[in-house]
Amino acid sequence: MVAHVRHVALGVPNLGKARDFYEKRWQLELVTSDGELDYLGSGCPESHVLRLRETEEPRVDLLSLAADSPAEVDEIADRVGRHPQARLVCEPGPRHEPGGGYALRFLDCDGRTVEVSADVRGRTFRPVEETEVRPVGISHVVLNTPDVQAASTFYASVLGFRVSDWVEDIMCFMRTGRAHHIVAFSAAPHTSLNHIAFENRGLDEFMRATGAMMREGIAPLWGPGRHGVGQNTFAYFQDPSSGFVLEYTTAAQIIDDEHGWTPKVYPASARTTDVWGTANTRDAHISAALHGLPDPGVWMAPPV
Ligand SMILES: [Fe+2]
Repeated sequence: MVAHVRHVALGVPNLGKARDFYEKRWQLELVTSDGELDYLGSGCPESHVLRLRETEEPRVDLLSLAADSPAEVDEIADRVGRHPQARLVCEPGPRHEPGGGYALRFLDCDGRTVEVSADVRGRTFRPVEETEVRPVGISHVVLNTPDVQAASTFYASVLGFRVSDWVEDIMCFMRTGRAHHIVAFSAAPHTSLNHIAFENRGLDEFMRATGAMMREGIAPLWGPGRHGVGQNTFAYFQDPSSGFVLEYTTAAQIIDDEHGWTPKVYPASARTTDVWGTANTRDAHISAALHGLPDPGVWMAPPV
């Protein structure tokens, strides 16, 4: 089974500015850097939750997923090999990233590069304490796609994801374990990153983290509020140098499969997206930021 999102690797036009933002504002910590690749960690054992490198235009390099075992990595490689829309990038083998391990890389149906790894060494980390604004780790990633149905079907058949809920036919939330979603697909004119969501320790820490950004003069793009689908809180911010959208979130719904779960279809309304009614109206500016620009990284695996 795919367990969680390990990290997202991004290409950014100004590595120094981006590192500054993620380290000093978003409260990740620089774990290691070789000058070309910056690895940033958070309050979890993952060696890093964000990898940055400098590229001409903003692009997504990798979506990195954790599998339970090397055997699972091999099984996914089999399914990639048999799937007409999947393209293998690297056969399963030793992983050349901090933490090592065993991994494969492939292009998904929209051309994103996905890495699935197992046996990755954790790092010594400092757990997030009460009132601390540092994120614990990655909660979920939302991906824009021109074909939500095709993308969700692909992730179900190749990676074993299950549908948790829909918003009409424009958003599909998917899980592998008990968290309501670790990946979601959102309808857009093009393939791109919608946002990366980072988990806060709890509701108090979520509000403190949101407030810490505001005190630095960085207003939320959207929020704070609470989503009706998945029940998680949200405060979206935009990285000023790359345009990528990040979310602080906490308290997502836990699904107990033992008691059965039937995916529901929610209407696309303000009551679905903002149950508290505290968030600013989701206008064209917010939608444009969440859609981002067409990702120049699709169908082109990163060199590292
Ligand atoms: Fe989110």
